[in-house]
Amino acid sequence: LFQPKKKDDCIVIAHRGASAYYPENTMAAFRGAVAMNSDMIELDVMLSSDGVPVVFHDARLEEHTTGRGLLTDYSLPALRALDAGSWFGSPFAGSRIPTLEEVLEFASDTIALNIEIKTEAVSKQQGGVEEKCLELVEAHGMKEHVLFSSFDYRAVTHLKTLDPAVPVALLYNRSLSNGKMPSNLVATYRADAFNCSYREFTKKWRKNIREHKIPHFVYTVDRPRQMRKLLAAGVDGIFTNKPDLLQSVAAQWRA
Ligand code: G3P
Ligand code: MG
Repeated sequence: LFQPKKKDDCIVIAHRGASAYYPENTMAAFRGAVAMNSDMIELDVMLSSDGVPVVFHDARLEEHTTGRGLLTDYSLPALRALDAGSWFGSPFAGSRIPTLEEVLEFASDTIALNIEIKTEAVSKQQGGVEEKCLELVEAHGMKEHVLFSSFDYRAVTHLKTLDPAVPVALLYNRSLSNGKMPSNLVATYRADAFNCSYREFTKKWRKNIREHKIPHFVYTVDRPRQMRKLLAAGVDGIFTNKPDLLQSVAAQWRA
C-alpha cells in the first residue's frame, strides 16, 4: 500500500481523515477518506493517562470535544465518554476519540496510515509511546503499510532504533534544525522521508531533496493551484483535508 520510493506519482494523504467534511481524527473522517479513494490516512497519536495510544491532534480537549483540559490527564474510559463530533455538526454527535488499535483494525487490508507521534502535549505518561505504537502496528500486520512521523526528532530516532525497518518521516521543526538542509537532517536523525508545510517547501530544499532522492510529503493543501504546483514539483505525497479534490486535480494533471 505504501510506496515511499515511487518517484513517478504523488499519493493522496487524507489529513486527519477527510477532515474538511467530517470531524477530524474520527472514524467518520477515516471512513470518508477511504470512500474518497485516498492512498493514505494521516492521524495524530498521543497516550491517555493510563498509557493507551489514542487518536487526537490538540494538546487540549476543548475545541474538538466536550471535555476540558489536557488530553494526557484523561484515562481511556474518561476520553471515550467524550463527544468528539458534535463540535463539527449535530449529525456527528456521539463520535468518539478513536484508539490507535481501532484505526489499525479498520485500516488493515484497506488503506495505509501515517501515524504522527505527538509529543507537544508531553507529560510523564508519554514515555513509551513509540514502543506502544510499533507493537500495535506489528500486531495488526500493518508494518508494510505504515509511515511514522514526528516533529520531535528524538521520537524519529527512537523509532528507528527500535526497528530500523519501519519507515519514519521527519516533520520539519525549525527550532530543532539550526538551519540545516533536509539531507543533513534526515541523515542526522535517521529518517526515511522529509515532510514539511507548503510554505516551508522552498526551491533550495526542493533541489536538495531531489539531489539526495529523499521521499517527501507536503502538508496541508486544499487549494487546486497549490496542489498543481506540488504535483509539478514532483512531491511524493500531499496531505489534504479534501482528498476528493486532490484526486480530481491529480487526475486532470496526469491527463
Ligand atoms: O503530518 C502533517 C501534519 O499533520 C502536521 O501538522 O499540526 O496538522 O499535525 P499537524
Ligand atoms: Mg498531524
